[in-house]
Amino acid sequence: MRVAIAGGTGAFGRALAGRWHGAGIDVVIGSRDPERAARQAAAVGVSGATNENAVRDAELVVLAVQSAAAIDTARGLADAIGSTPVLCVASDLHVTKEGIVAARSEGSVAEDVAAVVQGPVVSGYQALPAAQLARSELLDEDVLVCGDDAEAKRLALDLGQKLVSGRALDAGPLSNARALEGMTAVILHVNRTYKVVAGLRLTGFS
Ligand SMILES: NC(=O)c1ccc[n+]([C@@H]2O[C@H](COP(=O)([O-])OP(=O)(O)OC[C@H]3O[C@@H](n4cnc5c(N)ncnc54)[C@H](OP(=O)(O)O)[C@@H]3O)[C@@H](O)[C@H]2O)c1
Repeated sequence: MRVAIAGGTGAFGRALAGRWHGAGIDVVIGSRDPERAARQAAAVGVSGATNENAVRDAELVVLAVQSAAAIDTARGLADAIGSTPVLCVASDLHVTKEGIVAARSEGSVAEDVAAVVQGPVVSGYQALPAAQLARSELLDEDVLVCGDDAEAKRLALDLGQKLVSGRALDAGPLSNARALEGMTAVILHVNRTYKVVAGLRLTGFS
């Protein structure tokens, strides 16, 4: 299977690319700059291309550009993406005097992305820290994915299971993306307060 990571030159996309490449998945890193894509891709042993060329012929597109650029990037790539499923990993956060908070009181980045592409959009992976992903051990946490399309969600969950020692969990419809995106603010706050790199584990499974 072929996964394209738009904005894969960033810490998160690069770490995903390295993990999946190690698991035998065909990964292409995308960038606005093909030379940067080639450089970063070579460092993790995958191929690199412009975002537009990377997303063509992929079976899943991970939208891993800076969160503030996610919606515009999805709009710009919509024709090249076509009906391919998109995994949105973005969170819309504000830094305030009181701390890092969720920027939205309704909707989500993922739902806005879904409004500009033709294929199904799922949202997830927000709680997986890039720095931990870049190491070799599986992350000691669960990975959550929400979305309205069962097949796209299964794809993102199967790929997510390759990253963690915990569970890859179906987190419901795409409207739950607001909760997943908002949880990032909580985790970043906890990290800052307790000087840790926190992750998510749901209990109650026997
Ligand atoms: N970092 C983490 O621990 C982590 C964890 C979970 C989820 N995420 C999510 O993963 C995504 C990427 O995170 P990151 O830390 O890797 O971000 P990042 O390094 O800030 O950005 C990733 C890439 O986005 C591209 N980019 C930057 N500005 C852009 C613009 N205006 N238009 C189009 N592309 C632009 C750049 O690629 P080019 O310049 O090469 O085009 C950059 O390498 C974010 O949505 C973040 O919330 C991150």
